[in-house]
Amino acid sequence: MAKVLPSFVCQNCGAAYNRWQGKCESCGEWNTLVEENAAGAASVPSSLRPKRKGRAFTLESLTGDTQDAPRTPSGVAELDRVTGGGFVRGSVLLLGGDPGIGKSTLLIQATARMARLKHRSIYISGEEAVAQVRLRAERLGLAKSPVELAAETSVEDIIATLSQGPRPVLVVIDSIQTMWTDTVDSAPGTVTQVRASAQALIRYAKTSGATLILVGHVTKDGQIAGPRVVEHMVDAVLSFEGEGSQQFRILRAVKNRFGPTDEIGVFEMTGLGLREVPNPSELFLSERDLGTPGTAVFAGIEGTRPVLVELQALVAPTALGTPRRAVVGWDPSRLSMVLAVLEAHCGVKLSGHDVYLNVAGGLRINEPAADMAAAAALVSSLVGAPLPADGVFFGEVSLSGAVRPVAQMPARLKEAAKLGFKRAIMPEQTRGDGGGDAGLVLNAVGSLTELVAEIAAKGKKPRDNEAQLRRQDRG
Ligand code: TYD
Ligand code: MG
Repeated sequence: MAKVLPSFVCQNCGAAYNRWQGKCESCGEWNTLVEENAAGAASVPSSLRPKRKGRAFTLESLTGDTQDAPRTPSGVAELDRVTGGGFVRGSVLLLGGDPGIGKSTLLIQATARMARLKHRSIYISGEEAVAQVRLRAERLGLAKSPVELAAETSVEDIIATLSQGPRPVLVVIDSIQTMWTDTVDSAPGTVTQVRASAQALIRYAKTSGATLILVGHVTKDGQIAGPRVVEHMVDAVLSFEGEGSQQFRILRAVKNRFGPTDEIGVFEMTGLGLREVPNPSELFLSERDLGTPGTAVFAGIEGTRPVLVELQALVAPTALGTPRRAVVGWDPSRLSMVLAVLEAHCGVKLSGHDVYLNVAGGLRINEPAADMAAAAALVSSLVGAPLPADGVFFGEVSLSGAVRPVAQMPARLKEAAKLGFKRAIMPEQTRGDGGGDAGLVLNAVGSLTELVAEIAAKGKKPRDNEAQLRRQDRG
């Protein structure tokens, strides 16, 4: 008999080794290899496996009459926005997020809404007892919704139960890491178990047509724990994010087979559960410090929706040999680029200063259009000159220091006008974008140098700053 080799599986990426080692060579994580008895394929020699003859199936043409993916809206508009208009029959979603961010709260609210709309909805918790889930539902005022509840962890039992009665429309499995199946021997939470359990549940969803939501835990560096393969097996991966100290929660699609991936859903955690925020700009701008240097309002676009958000910068002389550059909510390499352009083309020397940049409200910006707002906030902090409180900024900065036009300028201007802003500091318009219709004063800026000169001219501490800038100009 062939000797069965032990199998060590990386709990981070799923790579398998036949001896233990401290570091996974595939993903570079330390201490993630765990011995797992890979039952099934690997441990049974192929000669002993029963031979099965293939079954012939019929091939279909592309033009057959398939029912187009019918969607069931969940009734939670911000969730539907992210999924692309509702749950697709037979689709599987993976929802990831830090512990305590509100995943269970969001899903019990969504199941309750669905149940109230007369769609059979089932919530299975592997982490909390039925009484705990009930208590939470009671607190959220959802106790009267006809949600069907269970506290279960055995995949076989769950599938047997779900297969009884009418087809459920929505099934929530609160945390795939707590599920286990008889078909493999490993402990719950290990890669092999998570993979096998997910496979069985996904097969159920595909054959029955129920929409399945799996909750996935997130490791300290923000990856969905367990095998990355689960991410490939599901139709959509959603991530629920937010700063612990902030009330805002942002739902994002990382992958979506049936919809867009650039839409965000915004929620606010209140004493009565998650509240949808249909107009995020108002929320992100609600606590502005008017008239302080170093803050600029950026008119951004998230998916199809314009979102106004405040960028805060602090530039302070450094006591260290290497100055600090800390950024929250924006790309650090983008910040380095803006700093380099300021230094190379605008005579703003920041090598003796620590630089901190923060996007207010816990939002994360990916657009290059934020370059100009970031540059404005940085210069404003350096020279101590507040930016106009009624102005919004947007525009991409190129390496030559030119300000480039960005997408969807009219939508940005319209949102700014709606929120009471009076002017926009923006790239020069190409071919009459018609942004003036929004009723804003448009300050077109051709290069970053122009912007810096304008801000520096208003510096509150003219003597030392002008002297500093002059010194830098000469240098
Ligand atoms: P929970 O949904 O249990 O998080 P997860 O499932 O992602 O681990 O949310 C728990 C947090 O939410 C907890 O810190 C308390 C807070 N919370 C509220 O502030 N208000 C509420 O109405 C509820 C239900 C929870
Ligand atoms: Mg939970």
